[in-house]
Amino acid sequence: MEIDVFKKCFNFHIVDKLKKAGFYPYFHKVESRQGPEIIINGAKKIVVCSNNYLGLANHPKVVEASILAIKKYGTSCTGSRLLNGTNDLHEKVEKKFAKFVNKEDAILFTTGHHSNLGALSSLVGKNEVFITDKLDHASIIDGCRLSFGEMVRFKHNNMEDLERQLLKHKNKAMMIVVDGIFSMGGDIANLPEISNLAKQYGARVFIDEAHSFGVIGENGKGIGEYFNMGENIDVLMATASKSLASIGGFIASKSKVINYIKHNARTMIFTASLPPGCVGAIDAALDLLISEPNRRIVLISNANKIRKAFKSMGYNTNSSHSPIIPLVVGSDLIAFKMWKMLFDEGIFASPVVTPAVPEGQSIIRTSYMATHSDSQLNFVLEKFKKVGKKFGII
Ligand SMILES: Cc1ncc(COP(=O)(O)O)c(C=O)c1O
Repeated sequence: MEIDVFKKCFNFHIVDKLKKAGFYPYFHKVESRQGPEIIINGAKKIVVCSNNYLGLANHPKVVEASILAIKKYGTSCTGSRLLNGTNDLHEKVEKKFAKFVNKEDAILFTTGHHSNLGALSSLVGKNEVFITDKLDHASIIDGCRLSFGEMVRFKHNNMEDLERQLLKHKNKAMMIVVDGIFSMGGDIANLPEISNLAKQYGARVFIDEAHSFGVIGENGKGIGEYFNMGENIDVLMATASKSLASIGGFIASKSKVINYIKHNARTMIFTASLPPGCVGAIDAALDLLISEPNRRIVLISNANKIRKAFKSMGYNTNSSHSPIIPLVVGSDLIAFKMWKMLFDEGIFASPVVTPAVPEGQSIIRTSYMATHSDSQLNFVLEKFKKVGKKFGII
């Protein structure tokens, strides 16, 4: 057939080529629990691409809470939050989360992606504007696209460009939307300046704390706490799939705003609610995040040790200031080849290639956990040194 929606599928050859060359890095089947070490194809790998920052995904209290929740409520809530899918556990964790991040109220979506889609598309409408960072996460872009509002972008973490966009749209209602810690670069949004500009131009501030919640700030509350200006964040989003060892997404804000989102977000109304087992895990993980601050201290110390060592080997770690540490390696092909050699050496990392990064700036993205041991981290450094040298990166 000449005109066929499947034409693009039949002409999609890159995956076959990578598989044939032995460099295909995606959809590996993990045969164990997710921890600092996993098993793939029967072989042990040290993981440096997980979001299990606090290492809680296997914590006995988290596992137990999840099992207990399933025993009490069953495996599914069988409907949308709006109708029959809300139970007392959902409301319990929403209250706990809101209290922890010092907001009036919070709402729990089925995924972090859904929380961005639902909150963004309901908050900004026709003749209103999203002002977004060029490196914002895909779920932010998807949320803006689902809205009837306009989306404009400013250069990454560039406050002059942000001001240019605010000035250009100053006669419309605006919301600035940024990642707290950027998911690929591991750098931190310039909240002090964003807050100043937002006040000056009357814009609202939405921060996606997916990678910062549980990770930075004195108590792990994210970048608001890190900069000591949590009250300047109008809408705070955090996902439960990273530090909170589960799945789900929180939006926290003023009660009136949460109430509006609750009754208008399509991803709240038209999808089934988060299952009890996942909510039980969030509840226990949130307790541990609050009561065991040492996990975050170890996490940051692990990341600092690795970043310092990578830099002294000669790697370019971009502007990372977090447990996400990217290593710039060059072309897509080099990234795939390096990934494969690291994999064969016992390291499981992520290659990030175009169009996710500009041409020629592909990265091996690494991220760390509180539960990585010193000997695991030393093993990682030894292998990256060997592979980086082999490819002439360092
Ligand atoms: C910055 C950011 N926001 C939102 C999400 C979506 O969260 P989830 O995977 O929990 O749906 C992610 C996930 O990778 C993310 O990195």
